[in-house]
Amino acid sequence: MSVRRLAEDNVQPAAFAFNEENAAWAEATIRKYPEGRQQSAVIPLLMRAQEQDGWVTRAAIEYVAQKLGMAYIRVLEVATFYTQFQLKPVGTRAHVQVCGTTPCMLRGAEDLIKVCKSKIHAEPFELNEDGTLSWEEVECQGACVNAPMVMIFKDAYEDLTPTQLEHIIDRFHAGKPHEITPGPQIDRQFSAPVGGPVTLTEEVKPAQTNLEPKPEPAEAASAAAVPPSDAARPTDTAEEADPSIKTPLTDKEGSKKRVKAAEKQPLSATASTPKPDKKRAGAAVEGAPPEPGTVSGDAKPKRTRKKTTPEGDAS
Ligand code: FES
Repeated sequence: MSVRRLAEDNVQPAAFAFNEENAAWAEATIRKYPEGRQQSAVIPLLMRAQEQDGWVTRAAIEYVAQKLGMAYIRVLEVATFYTQFQLKPVGTRAHVQVCGTTPCMLRGAEDLIKVCKSKIHAEPFELNEDGTLSWEEVECQGACVNAPMVMIFKDAYEDLTPTQLEHIIDRFHAGKPHEITPGPQIDRQFSAPVGGPVTLTEEVKPAQTNLEPKPEPAEAASAAAVPPSDAARPTDTAEEADPSIKTPLTDKEGSKKRVKAAEKQPLSATASTPKPDKKRAGAAVEGAPPEPGTVSGDAKPKRTRKKTTPEGDAS
């Protein structure tokens, strides 16, 4: 990839300003961002400036910086980072950006570059004879699965052969880019396998949800009096899809709720076989009353029986 620097001073215009239409568009775009976040509009505004002048000039960078209250260097960083921004004059009808990163290179990008050299210019960024075409090599454009590919302005042309790229360049040169459909240039839908999908090809029927129309209030009341059979119970899927459906408890759910309710009961009401407690047992021996809410002394009979008198009276 080439070093990205601003164009020489002799081609830089003295000033930049959006035309009336683009100025209104810029104001509307800036208003889309929350107060204090207007700098987020830097990329759309730079792109609009490029569409107006054909490339991003130094004056345009200064204009956008001033409009968004940003330091000039911050906008310059954005403009010089993204290869979507052209920093010097390019072909007026097409600037072909050939991806030269590994997947595209392995799939024939070098042959595409040869086409650009023969049909446009031997050197990147140089204009053809009538100034309508130029080209450059760029890094990955995110369409690796359809390698090799080129970008021309905002459109990607993928799965290319040298012959196809020649045809595309000819159409742009003739001012008829609409005769080319962007995207894969072979029998491929978007990024799907060549020739069509090979997985998930069977029709998948949706799971039974028992999502029946809601009954009228009178019907609902009578239906509520009759417990539904297992077969009529809505499934979990139905419950998720429509929370208004009141699903009766399944045996498993009812069991869980009963366990939780039992855990909330006082210990004396639920402990049928209390654990031995030496301290409490000792208190029973001394005749102290059991603490409220605790297991009674009946649960500690051993020491109590040791105090039994010869006459059989328990102390
Ligand atoms: S490597 Fe060419 S698009 Fe990713």
